[in-house]
Amino acid sequence: MNVAVITGASMGIGEEFARQLAARRLDLVLVARSEDKLRALAGELERRHSIRAHAFPCDLSEPAAAERVATYLTEEGLHPGWLVNNAGFGLIGTLDSMELVRLRQMMMLNMVSLVELTHLLLPQLRLGRDSRIINVASTAAFQPVPFFNVYAASKTFVLNFSEALHEELRGTDVRVLALCPGPTPTNFGETSGMDPRLFQRGQSAASVVRMGLRASDAGRAVLVTQRLLPIFLMRFLPRFAVRMAAGYVARMMMKKMDRPDRATPPKA
Ligand SMILES: NC(=O)c1ccc[n+]([C@@H]2O[C@H](COP(=O)([O-])OP(=O)(O)OC[C@H]3O[C@@H](n4cnc5c(N)ncnc54)[C@H](OP(=O)(O)O)[C@@H]3O)[C@@H](O)[C@H]2O)c1
Repeated sequence: MNVAVITGASMGIGEEFARQLAARRLDLVLVARSEDKLRALAGELERRHSIRAHAFPCDLSEPAAAERVATYLTEEGLHPGWLVNNAGFGLIGTLDSMELVRLRQMMMLNMVSLVELTHLLLPQLRLGRDSRIINVASTAAFQPVPFFNVYAASKTFVLNFSEALHEELRGTDVRVLALCPGPTPTNFGETSGMDPRLFQRGQSAASVVRMGLRASDAGRAVLVTQRLLPIFLMRFLPRFAVRMAAGYVARMMMKKMDRPDRATPPKA
């Protein structure tokens, strides 16, 4: 049975992927940590769209998590036709204010599990006639982001990895898209330690996913879902100017969030 594997499907952008792919009558494997939410969503989508939706609770920041997902698919006789690597979170602050254990979890989730899952499922995806990989990056991927340092770098990794894979798989039946949303009102802001007000007027998760699916259908490599002037302008600026502009904007944001403590490195 062909399925779409969606990570981070319990809420936000991932849940929306589940809803829109179910509406396309694809069977689903929903992966995240919150078992109750996954089961409730799987049940609802099965009833509404007459599909099969499997809930696979799993902490993807743990070593060998990707192998557990792949083993589950094999044991259940499920063949991935779509892989949506969406699970991820951010951490805001100066590097030394972040807990190392959380940083490690973020790097494991945002980068390592994404690569491992792609690596493990690619042989099956190659067997399909119209297979898809959608990796959720971010507009943060296009420049260094002070105070969002490792998160933004992890998304640059996702962007470059996805673009490389897109070219590597050119001429095959596997299409790879790096989906780069801007601020989207989900749980992301709160998890990252940001002021949720910054996300309130962002693009909805439904619209991000709608645009992402259209871009994947069209075989695009990268989609930035919002027309953000700075992202466009940055293509023409020298690197030092991009870096300084990013630093200026980041300091303003930290001030706006009333977190000057995080914006100023602690004194020795
Ligand atoms: N919202 C934005 O403004 C924005 C902008 C650009 C890019 N993005 C990217 O979009 C993606 C989805 O984020 P979102 O906005 O939808 O945030 P969200 O509402 O916080 O959802 C994050 C999803 O990831 C799952 N997740 C978190 N840690 C996990 C772990 N260790 N193992 C397995 N699953 C885990 C969460 O489920 P559980 O808690 O149940 O595990 C949840 O389903 C992320 O990659 C994020 O970086 C978001």
